[in-house]
Amino acid sequence: MKIYLETYGCQMNVGDSGKILHLFRQQGYEPVAAARDADLVVINTCSVREKPELKLFSALGRYIPLKRRNPDLVIAVGGCVAQQWGERLQEKSPGLDIVFGTHQLDRLPEMVTAVRRRRIPLSRTEFGPVPGGLEVMARPESGTVSAMVTIMQGCDNFCSYCIVPYVRGREYSRPSRAIIEEIEMLAAAGVREVMLLGQNVNSYGCKTPGEIGFAELLRQVAGIDGIARIRFTTSHPKDLTDELIAVFGELEKLCPALHLPLQAGSDRVLERMGRGYSASAYLEKVEKLRRVVPDIALTTDIIVGFPGESEADFAATLKMLEQVRYDQIFSFKYSPRPGTRAAAFADMVSEEEKKERLARCQAFQDEISFAILAEQVGRVSEVMVTGPSKRGGEWSGRTPENRIVNFPVAAGEIGPGELLRVKITEAMKHSLRGEVAP
Ligand code: SAH
Ligand code: SF4
Ligand code: F3S
Repeated sequence: MKIYLETYGCQMNVGDSGKILHLFRQQGYEPVAAARDADLVVINTCSVREKPELKLFSALGRYIPLKRRNPDLVIAVGGCVAQQWGERLQEKSPGLDIVFGTHQLDRLPEMVTAVRRRRIPLSRTEFGPVPGGLEVMARPESGTVSAMVTIMQGCDNFCSYCIVPYVRGREYSRPSRAIIEEIEMLAAAGVREVMLLGQNVNSYGCKTPGEIGFAELLRQVAGIDGIARIRFTTSHPKDLTDELIAVFGELEKLCPALHLPLQAGSDRVLERMGRGYSASAYLEKVEKLRRVVPDIALTTDIIVGFPGESEADFAATLKMLEQVRYDQIFSFKYSPRPGTRAAAFADMVSEEEKKERLARCQAFQDEISFAILAEQVGRVSEVMVTGPSKRGGEWSGRTPENRIVNFPVAAGEIGPGELLRVKITEAMKHSLRGEVAP
């Protein structure tokens, strides 16, 4: 049997897709690169904005007609859009066999078996206290250097624009013992870098009596032999504690890089977003971080055109970009999401205005991003080799700050996972070039 898996959305979804693939591999399925070669098509969806949501419908428009040629083909949709729509998806798209919600990932294999037997559409989108599938531990493919480990699921923050708490359910932290065991397994399989994932990792363990907190979890992960680098995402600024900031100075394996979503620079907008911090409180945390790790690379998420955002509010966002000097930003036009508070706000910003602000925001950041890369020229950095570079002929790796570096090496001399000292020789638009230092 062959499975074709398509994934949209955040790294948590990518992690979930790894688990789905693992479950079907255990049943003898092989992954294929095209839906037309598959016996099972699984689409893992995202509903954070309208654009990724629409991707599902165009994908279904391509894959459901494949059933005419292959009547045994089973099509399943999971993830956040599945959770949001439930069986209404099947009313809208006849021929869609399975809808499975974000807490039902581990039930997918038995749903597929049931559909093959009875050929009736199935839908499961209940939320449980513990999301099903979180303890599925996918073994890394051989040669994997960096692996993602989901440590928590769900979100209790209910920022006014965001659909995630509705589609991922309440915040749940995996037992720390299970996380440590999974990372030990990964390390034994040759993984050298782990990325700990959750919608809001800073509140890891806070709501579970007897569980350790995130700073302590990081210390325990750092104690695992074989793991050379630790990263995590996403951090909510309001929950970035002094203890966590201190851990950056304490643990050598913890990379000097942090994704700290700002969303907006205006206090009025932040308030209406329900983010729980002001621009000055955010800046204060950045200053504290830089006192501990002067070279820490920060990245962020920005929403432009939130309801009621004036030109002055938007200017406050640009000012924050200038003050913080992020390595990189991920910026989005505000997209109203059904059922969220902000979708009912009256003062929507026009599409043209949003488009124009997004372009200005990105152009503004591009200069900062390039200036930061240019400042790296001449430095020597420890680079973890990730593989051959995209353009070929060279190798590619990441600095501790997560910047991409391409460099030439005589063939066969190195392999993925190795740590090398590389002298940075040139800044490109989105990456660095270098040469292996003697
Ligand atoms: N848990 C993470 C982010 C999850 S969603 C956090 O709290 O930071 C990823 C990003 O999508 C968000 O940071 C936000 O910038 C963006 N986003 C979420 N909802 C959005 C919406 N309705 N419109 C536009 N962007 C949105
Ligand atoms: Fe969404 Fe806010 Fe939760 Fe992030 S913290 S997932 S933006 S509700
Ligand atoms: Fe998208 Fe769901 Fe992640 S909405 S961003 S896939 S949590």
